[in-house]
Amino acid sequence: MTARNKKKQKIKIIRSIGGMQKLSREIIARGKKIGLVPTMGFLHEGHLSLIRRASKKSDIVITTIFVNPAQFGPNEDLDKYPRDEKGDIAKIASAGSDIVFIPKAEDIYPKDFQTYVNTMEITKTLEGKSRPNHFRGVTTIVAKLFNITRPDIAVFGMKDYQQAAVIKQMTRDLGFPIKIDIAPTMRESDGLAMSSRNKYFSESQRWEAVALFYALRTAKEMIKAGEKSTARIEKEMTAVIMATCPKAKIEYIAFTDFSTLEPVNKIKSNVICSLAVKIHKVRLIDNMKLA
Ligand code: PAF
Repeated sequence: MTARNKKKQKIKIIRSIGGMQKLSREIIARGKKIGLVPTMGFLHEGHLSLIRRASKKSDIVITTIFVNPAQFGPNEDLDKYPRDEKGDIAKIASAGSDIVFIPKAEDIYPKDFQTYVNTMEITKTLEGKSRPNHFRGVTTIVAKLFNITRPDIAVFGMKDYQQAAVIKQMTRDLGFPIKIDIAPTMRESDGLAMSSRNKYFSESQRWEAVALFYALRTAKEMIKAGEKSTARIEKEMTAVIMATCPKAKIEYIAFTDFSTLEPVNKIKSNVICSLAVKIHKVRLIDNMKLA
């Protein structure tokens, strides 16, 4: 029976690690393929597209909701990170997930917790440089969720491209028998990448957040017109961002090899542009494969 034609059943809500481990063991014993979609909740259409994708590629989908303290820096938005558990469960069920796993922070990180997973080189640039320890928190929780839920496939979004690359690396390095599947970024009709953090904008600020997409689109157009210099493209992207949001604070605009994340100066094949920009104090990231 494929996920597509299975009968609609009530979603199972699991909160304990032991309960989730037991259920995963039973699913595996029945010969079913598990698809995992890890989230931090406050779901938008982007997350739901990951669940639908997982549902097409597996028999049983487990979606997790856990706002992971280990991936937030001391001055980041952990305390005000938006939450809506009831709304999330309804959305997760409607997107076709069979199980939602909502562990407690004290169970994931008990008082004597002392083991972290650290992926080295690939976390030293971009987000890793701007947010020390962020990826250590991500790989630790994802490894732990892999061990608890034991999926065959795990789906992550392309918007957090470096995160996806780091998780792929960790999965290979630690020998998890799991396929990491990367789903395309979902965008609002004006191009803004969907993100739980978009919620922080007032109506009057919201339209300026599209600056990141305009800049990426400009890069793509310049390359189409024959431009090869990343310095010239970056200059133009900066101008586009500042024209759209004069108070924007650009953290980085980076051109890197798509596979290794090594910096590139001249546009060739396999180049991705990633950027992080604060728009009215909200830190947004986005990216686009340029060539
Ligand atoms: O992308 C996210 O929402 C988080 O980084 C993840 C993968 C759920 C780990 O906490």
